[in-house]
Amino acid sequence: MNPIIRQEKFDDHKAVFTITELAFRNLEISEHNEQFLVDRLRKSSAFIPELSMVAEIEGKIVGHILLTKILIKNEKSEHESLTLAPVSVHPDFQKMGIGAKLIQAAHQKARELGYKSVVLIGHPHYYPRFGYRKASDFGIKFHFDAPDEVCMAVELVPKGFNGVNGFVELAKEFFEN
Ligand SMILES: CC(C)(COP(=O)(O)OP(=O)(O)OC[C@H]1O[C@@H](n2cnc3c(N)ncnc32)[C@H](O)[C@@H]1OP(=O)(O)O)[C@@H](O)C(=O)NCCC(=O)NCCS
Repeated sequence: MNPIIRQEKFDDHKAVFTITELAFRNLEISEHNEQFLVDRLRKSSAFIPELSMVAEIEGKIVGHILLTKILIKNEKSEHESLTLAPVSVHPDFQKMGIGAKLIQAAHQKARELGYKSVVLIGHPHYYPRFGYRKASDFGIKFHFDAPDEVCMAVELVPKGFNGVNGFVELAKEFFEN
């Protein structure tokens, strides 16, 4: 499967909403509102248009990924980073490597834009293949009561977390309905 991975356009919003809803529909851990989260994040100051990307096959949108700005804060300093959430592949196209292509393309674009790291909460079976490790290994914590192994982080460049540690501050849109 060789999708085109490109920046999302306004005309893609409807398809992205549908794919996000379908991708998470049968996921037990989901509250099935990720499609609304994407809509809210597009209007947020955390939104970076270049980091909302779609996978397209023969003119049809089959996947979407969104990286938004976060802060990593401690008592002494704060640093800008990114969070990956959500990533969605249409159920008919899952397990064909499209999710991997979206993640790799989003990492590359983020690097080009000067970002040095990404954090996420996700499945520890999937994300380590893209370089993600436990965020706690870097001294990075989330304000969630989530198991340590699902709180993950990756350095996009060598030493991307040098001098960076503390709590992840997500955009307020993550906590709205
Ligand atoms: C997770 C997801 C984006 C991966 O995209 P994909 O195109 O299916 O993934 P790839 O083909 O690159 O990789 C397939 C691998 O992902 C794993 N995988 C798929 N969904 C997964 C999930 N929800 N949790 C953990 N692993 C998952 C598969 O088991 C497979 O693992 P393997 O290579 O060891 O066999 C896609 O399956 C999806 O949309 N899932 C529902 C939504 C979701 O869980 N999003 C992530 C949370 S934000």
